[in-house]
Amino acid sequence: MNEVVQKLAEQKAEHVARLEEWLRIPSVSTDSARKEDVRKAGEWVRDELSWAGFETRIEETAGHPVVVAKWHGARGAPTVLVYGHYDVQPPEPLDLWRHGPFEPTVEGDNLIARGATDDKGQVLALIRGIGGVLREKGSLPINVTFLVEGEEEIGSPNLTPFIEAHAEELSADVALISDTSQFAPGVPALTIGLKGLVYLQVELVGPNRDLHSGSFGGAVANPGNVLATMLASLKDSEGRVLIPGFYDDVRDLSEAERAEIAALPFDEAGFCRDLELEHLHGEKGYSTLERKWARPTLDVNGMLCGWTGEGAKTVLPSKAMAKFSMRLVPDQDSETIRRQVTDHLRRICPPTCKLTVHCDHGAEPVLVERTSPWLVAAERAVEKGFGTKPVYIREGGSIPVVSEFKKILGIDTILLGTGLPDDNAHSPNEKFCLSDFQRAIETAAWLLDEMIRMENPDR
Ligand code: BES
Ligand code: ZN
Repeated sequence: MNEVVQKLAEQKAEHVARLEEWLRIPSVSTDSARKEDVRKAGEWVRDELSWAGFETRIEETAGHPVVVAKWHGARGAPTVLVYGHYDVQPPEPLDLWRHGPFEPTVEGDNLIARGATDDKGQVLALIRGIGGVLREKGSLPINVTFLVEGEEEIGSPNLTPFIEAHAEELSADVALISDTSQFAPGVPALTIGLKGLVYLQVELVGPNRDLHSGSFGGAVANPGNVLATMLASLKDSEGRVLIPGFYDDVRDLSEAERAEIAALPFDEAGFCRDLELEHLHGEKGYSTLERKWARPTLDVNGMLCGWTGEGAKTVLPSKAMAKFSMRLVPDQDSETIRRQVTDHLRRICPPTCKLTVHCDHGAEPVLVERTSPWLVAAERAVEKGFGTKPVYIREGGSIPVVSEFKKILGIDTILLGTGLPDDNAHSPNEKFCLSDFQRAIETAAWLLDEMIRMENPDR
């Protein structure tokens, strides 16, 4: 493997050029006007996997296509299912970007573009690493299936039926995903926990049209005020969620888990500095990392109501809308929480307004078994690729497919993320560190060796 890794190191400029090409395709899955671009990004990754030597195909779904690539020539060896996504978040607000979001630009050791870290850069590292071994050697020590989808950022609505329909073909010993972050620069990590998600859109309608706020104010309930009151009542001043039953299934952190989290080199002052915040906020009795990783949360994601254009318009709006979401932890269940929240909203909505609640999507929380031997293989590969052992962390984000892999295919997932916490995922000026890109490529190659070693410890 040494020679192949050496070769991968020499190809650094080519890896970056390929990534830039992929990043130029604006594959925003939420945006129906970008449907063709999303497909192009899928075709791009299919071609890249074919080039590496995988048997590839692109499959239609009710939404954006799924790319499947296989090399199953290692008879009797384990199989790894590698998942990633080729869709990206909307780039807005555009005026905050230093360059066009789809015009990848190198600044020092970073490549700036939408999708750089989430997830094109991280997926391509796996493809260049594993595919690089296949191209160089003509074979792999283990069997590999790639599953790359275009709907992760919208909750993977069509992926579960796809996995169910192809369960046999996708069967594997373990899944591998690079769609998370290291703990800090120089501190690589394996992620063992992800949060679940319930995402809601609520709308309140009051009078049948916008009204003069002087002529009607005081006599007619204002949906904007009502919605603000309702949303504010969902949490107390310390961030504890006030929806009945919300904490019923929350698994408490054990003392050992708390100690492991507390031992991480978290730079809280640096965290504040980066966000230009004087103070943090959160549930009493928990540290910042515990709040981020192991406590459920509720946050407004967007609100729309009344006059937001230039100048003042004295209007009493007819409607108000908000999008808000709850991040869940084990053992909360997205469907139970969705029901509890919806029932609660109906209870607290005054008769002066009509309420509609729409659930966009959900995901289940994940906690990976610490005893999985594949974590040991990943740990060794990271040590070789990054030059230092990874720490074990959780993340506050969600990857819907992870619980589906467990439920449908019965497999655990190694979450070997190579981004950085300040990569600006979902924000303007998203970036990926190019040295980490190269280290991730080499780690992926090493991982193949380490996985076969888990099977045959004598090798
Ligand atoms: N890469 C993220 C998941 C992630 C975010 C992991 C932060 C670790 C830290 C992923 O692409 C993502 O953003 N997922 C969505 C899922 C949702 C739309 C169902 C998320 O977490 O908001
Ligand atoms: Zn992602």
